[in-house]
Amino acid sequence: MAIQKVGVVGCGLMGSGIAQVSAQAGFQTVVREVTSELVDKGLKGIEKNLARQVEKNAITEATKSEIRGRLKGVTAVEELKDCDVIIEAIIEQLPAKRELFSALDALCPSHTIFASNTSSLNITEIAAATKRPQRFVGLHFFNPVPIMKLVEVVRTIATDLAVYDEMVQFGAKLGKTPVRAHDGGGFIVNRLLVPYLLDAIRALEEGVGSVVDIDNSMKLGCGYPMGPFTLLDFVGLDTTLYISHIMFDEFKEKRFAAPPLLKRMVLAGWYGKKTGRGFYDYADPANPKPMSL
Ligand code: CAA
Repeated sequence: MAIQKVGVVGCGLMGSGIAQVSAQAGFQTVVREVTSELVDKGLKGIEKNLARQVEKNAITEATKSEIRGRLKGVTAVEELKDCDVIIEAIIEQLPAKRELFSALDALCPSHTIFASNTSSLNITEIAAATKRPQRFVGLHFFNPVPIMKLVEVVRTIATDLAVYDEMVQFGAKLGKTPVRAHDGGGFIVNRLLVPYLLDAIRALEEGVGSVVDIDNSMKLGCGYPMGPFTLLDFVGLDTTLYISHIMFDEFKEKRFAAPPLLKRMVLAGWYGKKTGRGFYDYADPANPKPMSL
């Protein structure tokens, strides 16, 4: 099957990034959000990214217009009905995802392949809300999507092998390096990343080092682009807590258990960069200051 038209559900941080790389890779792309304000916000972010690429001479103004011409923002799910692949990047809540895919299943022709960008929910359980679990995969992208080179392509026990191979090739067509992962909690990246991030919080709780010293240790000692606390604030503490709950539930191992400090920070509404406070205070975004915790 030749994939020509791609649907993306959700035009937030992840969905807009996915829609951008899809249009940039030459696919007709329809991206859906619940309100026209959210559609506009997502498309504006994409336009800003493309404008930055023009400024840096990475693409021409003409290419930018072509990419923009392949992108359509919509609010009605029905507009996705003739897509060959639909990638969901909505809120990380199982009932919302199951409800969406059940509606899409009734709407789309039998050849349409469904994919979820979930970072931690069980793909098998989302796919079970449809009558096509054999045409269902996980496509897990990384933030910021236009920059990060990886996509995890997740196969469940029900995914048809030919569909899976096609999605691995599709990941490459999007300009990403696809890796094959099974539908085990957290796939590959979060299986390794989440215990590392939680351990950094435990090290802080135990007084091993300060926020800045732990960040600098991993940045300058190991060459990581961001230290664990900068990355936690970037990913979102609410998101990390949510993922850790799902992974702990799956594996019942302490390394996936949320440290008390993480829980307290989320209860206080300190979700990281997006709320202006996390392990750092972003009152001056260009110069974040470590919080005293
Ligand atoms: N959107 C689009 N482009 C962005 C961007 C964004 N949000 N932020 C930065 N960029 C671009 C910049 O324009 C710049 O482009 P050029 O190289 O073409 O000039 C490039 O990225 C580098 O940016 P900067 O020089 O400003 O800063 P940097 O060198 O520190 O890079 C970074 C920024 C790419 C985010 C880098 O710090 C990094 O790789 N951090 C780690 C990110 C990471 O680990 N992401 C995965 C999170 S886990 C996840 O997403 C999954 C999950 O399930 C939780």
